[in-house]
Amino acid sequence: MIPIVISFKIWYNKTNAVHNPALTLFKGEISMKFGYFDDARKEYVINSPKTPYPWINYLGNQGFFSLISNTAGGYCFYKDARLRRITRYRYNNVPIDMGGRYFYINDNGTIWNPGWSPVKTELDSYECRHGMGYTVITGKKNGLKAEVTFFVPQNYDGEVQQVVLTNESNEAKSFSIFSIAEWCLWDAQDDCTNFQRNFSTGRVEIEGSTIYHVTEYRDRRNHYAFYTVNDTIDGYDTDRDSFLGTIYNGWDNPETVKADKPSNSFADGWSPVASHYKKVTLAPGESKTLIYILGYAENPQDKKFASEKPANLLTRETWVLNKEKAYAMIEKYNTPEKVAAGLEELRNTWDSLLSIFNVHTPDDKVDRMVNIWNQYQCMVTFNLSRSASYFESGIGRGMGFRDSNQDILGFVHQIPERARERLIDIASTQLSDGGCYHQYQPLTKKGNADIGGDFSDDPLWMILSVASYIKETGDWGILDADVPFDDDPNGKHTMLEHLDVSFYHIVNNLGPHGLPLAMRADWNDCINLSCFSDTPGESFQTYTNPKFAAEGGYSKIAESAFVAALFTYTGPAYVGILKHIGKAAEADKAQAEIDKMKKNVMDSAFDGDWFIRAYDANGEKMGSKECEEGKIFIEPQGFAVMSEIGKDQGADIKTLNSIDKYLNCEFGLVLNNPAFTKYYIQYGEISTYPGGYKENAGIFTHNNAWIICAEAYAGRGDKAFEYYSKIAPAFTEETSDIHKTEPYVYGQMIGGKDAKNFGQGKNSWLTGTAAWNMVAISQYILGVKPDFDGLSIDPSIPAAWDGFTAVRKFRGATYNITIKNPNHVNKGVKSLTLDGKAIEGCVVPVCDGGVHEVEVVLG
Ligand code: GLC
Ligand code: GLC
Repeated sequence: MIPIVISFKIWYNKTNAVHNPALTLFKGEISMKFGYFDDARKEYVINSPKTPYPWINYLGNQGFFSLISNTAGGYCFYKDARLRRITRYRYNNVPIDMGGRYFYINDNGTIWNPGWSPVKTELDSYECRHGMGYTVITGKKNGLKAEVTFFVPQNYDGEVQQVVLTNESNEAKSFSIFSIAEWCLWDAQDDCTNFQRNFSTGRVEIEGSTIYHVTEYRDRRNHYAFYTVNDTIDGYDTDRDSFLGTIYNGWDNPETVKADKPSNSFADGWSPVASHYKKVTLAPGESKTLIYILGYAENPQDKKFASEKPANLLTRETWVLNKEKAYAMIEKYNTPEKVAAGLEELRNTWDSLLSIFNVHTPDDKVDRMVNIWNQYQCMVTFNLSRSASYFESGIGRGMGFRDSNQDILGFVHQIPERARERLIDIASTQLSDGGCYHQYQPLTKKGNADIGGDFSDDPLWMILSVASYIKETGDWGILDADVPFDDDPNGKHTMLEHLDVSFYHIVNNLGPHGLPLAMRADWNDCINLSCFSDTPGESFQTYTNPKFAAEGGYSKIAESAFVAALFTYTGPAYVGILKHIGKAAEADKAQAEIDKMKKNVMDSAFDGDWFIRAYDANGEKMGSKECEEGKIFIEPQGFAVMSEIGKDQGADIKTLNSIDKYLNCEFGLVLNNPAFTKYYIQYGEISTYPGGYKENAGIFTHNNAWIICAEAYAGRGDKAFEYYSKIAPAFTEETSDIHKTEPYVYGQMIGGKDAKNFGQGKNSWLTGTAAWNMVAISQYILGVKPDFDGLSIDPSIPAAWDGFTAVRKFRGATYNITIKNPNHVNKGVKSLTLDGKAIEGCVVPVCDGGVHEVEVVLG
């Protein structure tokens, strides 16, 4: 096993701070950080550009999105990361983070970037502040300071970049600043494959200080992009090769910048770019602000073209773009005052979003996760599903059915109306028998036929997300909302019917032991029990092995104990809904199915000390003591414990202890143990990974949350918190050199104990981990959980805590919650008062507005 911190000697040289990550002394050893949390400003401050991986942020919330790294790498798009890509990104690039929106400064021959890259001139100081929807990068060199604020204002389809240049030296300074953005030719997939056409299509227009990207606009597109600056310019470039000077130069070495002379190039095919050149002179102490805007606009079909050609317009076309929308957008943020107001509006939006749930606990790492970063990540995952990150290309999958449903669990309290709309979108892709398209496209909102369906867990997440929406809002009306089925688009159907068919899709598809059929995969996309693939290129998830073709594409023997446990965990929410709307008989019927499933699990899926994972297509157990490898899996355990399957026989505690014994390690809980060391053709993709990575015994942080919930549920608050703090990003900050990815957001996985890179994070940002860990900490550990009839408060915390306070806005009222833990227990509500009056049990009733004091004493 690799020790948690590397103990080697490095001298921390203050004068060279930019190039040595900050070293922090920690329990007598040396650990590595690359920044710090500034909680008051809700920012993570990075003080070395050389983070172990690009540490990124997301700008934009609705239409226009940007990814921006700590050195200003990244790209932007409008709504769909594949079909409306605005700036170019090079996949699998070397170096990894090359290309973005850059500013170059030529200060009498010294060329540098405020964010260090791409020129990588040593800076006198560097700082990147990633905040809520904005990023500020500041660099200083030879007495000149450049502070660049990047943000996408609310309800605005563009990225505003405010550059403040300050002469901090004692002498006047004359220098020049170049901007650069490289356009993507709209369809990101086509842009990186179809060169024979694309190298001949690029078109631009230039008017004053604004460069317009109009490739394909005349013919079949009605959208364009622009890059502008709020001042006169002294030159420009719109052709990449001219900007770089020769095809042998990279972004780190543009000829025009070196020569301090733009080439005033006009792109004609090849790769259009947008670069502004500006000469600046500043007296000592003087500042100058330049505001650049990178925007996107669409025109109606009949208003695509302007009737006149302005005298100063540079174009090779016989037609003229109608620029009215761009003019209005430019007008909106063309002064520092307007930018300040836009930033203020963004800040206020986030302050209000984050004021809905707020805690003060004895641990500031918990507070910054709950109050700031975990909620922020939940918004990003809700917006983007799994489409565009530094690990997701944005040209692959659309919105996942299971993914988007789970994202709602962490997001719903922030903007319930958007959650409602999303639920209806997702449900509309469902089939009338309860089956689901596994993915859908955000632009068309249609199910994705290439991937198809038959993922056994998908329908159940729909029940969970709709229930969580109702619990948050009390909006029972959603059950009556018109929601079609994909195979009956004009039929009249309600959301309730979607829940019915979701529930019964499981019941109607059981295998020989009465457990749900595993189908193509369940939550674990890499357990493919019907695939038996021996040919390269076959998709483990969608390939139909001929031996199962006649059965409809997948084995009718292979069963998933995970889906069984998810069913018994989710089913009660469905029953609760039926009861609430007076469907007692339906509720009883559903409850009987849940009880039967629990019995089936105990009869054939409890292995003595834990629950098995599955029965494979040969009818053999997977995830059992009988197996040679992969004897225990994490996924079914948490939901089985929370469903109280076999609780009367002690199955819950035995299971939790087995997890601690076999899956727990220094950096979290591994997915399975022992890791697979051979290819098990009957299991599918899972055993193709080297041990310790991804689904083969990686620390999959998403399902760690299920165990955190289960430990808390079982009353073992210390264990729950131990597991929580192993994976929560703020807690990994001290070992950033090992963890590599951002210490402010979760990644999908961390290298497990069998991996060479034990403890190394991967696939940061877009993961169901965000939502589930938000649920785990807020609803299970801190125990503040919306329920159908009120706000349940039942914490399961570390015994050492004296208590904590929380503010929760819920259904129009504000609850100031104080938890006291005088006897230092983990769990157990001894008394609860609402505005001084005692309440039986632990559910605070819904109040009619106002501010209310809730006091809970544990003991
Ligand atoms: C209903 C019925 C059930 C049926 C299901 C799916 O709730 O009670 O028997 O299988 O819907 O149509
Ligand atoms: C990925 C997928 C998710 C799946 C998980 C386990 O995170 O996005 O849908 O459940 O992997 O395979």
